[in-house]
Amino acid sequence: MDLFTFTRADLTEPVRFCDGRWVVSAYDDVRAILADPVTYLPDNALTAVTPVAPAALRALVRARFSLPPTLANNGSASHAGLRKLVASFFTPVRVAAAEPRIRALVLERLGGSDLSQIDLVSDLAWDLPAIVLMELLGLENVDIPTLKRWSTGSLEFFWGNISTERQLELVDDVGDFHQWLVKRYHARDGELFQALADAGVSAEDSAGLCYFLLIAGQETTTQLLSTALRRALQNRDLWARLPQRDVAESFVEDVLRTETPVVTWRRLTAREVVLSGTRIPQGAELVLLLSGKETDPKHLAFGYGRHFCLGAGLARLEAAVTLQTVAEHEPSLRLLGDNPEWLNLLSFRAPKSVAVSR
Ligand code: HEM
Repeated sequence: MDLFTFTRADLTEPVRFCDGRWVVSAYDDVRAILADPVTYLPDNALTAVTPVAPAALRALVRARFSLPPTLANNGSASHAGLRKLVASFFTPVRVAAAEPRIRALVLERLGGSDLSQIDLVSDLAWDLPAIVLMELLGLENVDIPTLKRWSTGSLEFFWGNISTERQLELVDDVGDFHQWLVKRYHARDGELFQALADAGVSAEDSAGLCYFLLIAGQETTTQLLSTALRRALQNRDLWARLPQRDVAESFVEDVLRTETPVVTWRRLTAREVVLSGTRIPQGAELVLLLSGKETDPKHLAFGYGRHFCLGAGLARLEAAVTLQTVAEHEPSLRLLGDNPEWLNLLSFRAPKSVAVSR
């Protein structure tokens, strides 16, 4: 089994040992693990899947790159305060207020081209979540193409099955992104940085936190939009009904349940445990399958418990509004080509393009 491409169908047992990691797929096990941060530590959440080669590591040290425990990778007492600070940017009221802007961005992108063939990833899903995120975080003058290069490069660097050569190609983007964050923190450039500095969060912790937040807060949504648009266009009857908001919302939940972009998330065992009859040693890396079955009681696409995704409401809104708006304005869109290239990382999966004719 290949950890970067496997699907649920490849898993014959609830716990499967693969290339030094334990893949856990039973719904009850995954939920219980996420609910118990004492036995299952989040410390490895952002650890590079492919060990960083010495030459790439030297480049990271030169760039003073670091990812101290802040949010997703933080099992310590400082997590609650940092989480509260970030959550204040994504309150239900702030998120709901973004709806007209999301709709306007979708329409602007659809209207921006009168070509008869477009790619709904590069022409629509690519930068929309990044723009919305920067606005919610009060970060102005961000060059979105550069941010996207840094964030897609970072995803591949930390979650990809990559060669040393590829690490060396990507490492400057990883370092540049982090240095830019440190600079903006020192300049208090934007509401998020101001809030972090006011709360006494150090430059190093702020940069680490923002590095994760600026990636997680938009790459995942680009991926969700890509998968959802592709899947919706495979079903003409659904496409015709998607302009109804409740149809779009429940379709988004369905995609999150069975084909979520964040297919897996990691934990580390603090002691020996037994999961579905399998003994797993202390210090083992668990790969939790978040992509579920139709029959699961609730989905775990946004995790569960203390680290539950802070952007769940925003991601749901962006996806529902985007699907609804595209289906309403482009009822005759047709999917072109059967087999797009996929992003295949340990924790992130999505089609890289959704070519359509209009
Ligand atoms: C489809 C889109 C998204 C998916 C599938 C997703 C999924 C996840 C998952 C699986 C976790 C780990 C949960 C756990 O350990 O229990 C997480 C954490 C997190 N997500 Fe998301 N996410 C998405 C979008 C977003 C957005 C838009 C934001 C930004 C607003 C965001 C911010 C965060 C943060 C800050 C955490 C860490 C929370 C903590 O450790 O307390 N995510 N997300």
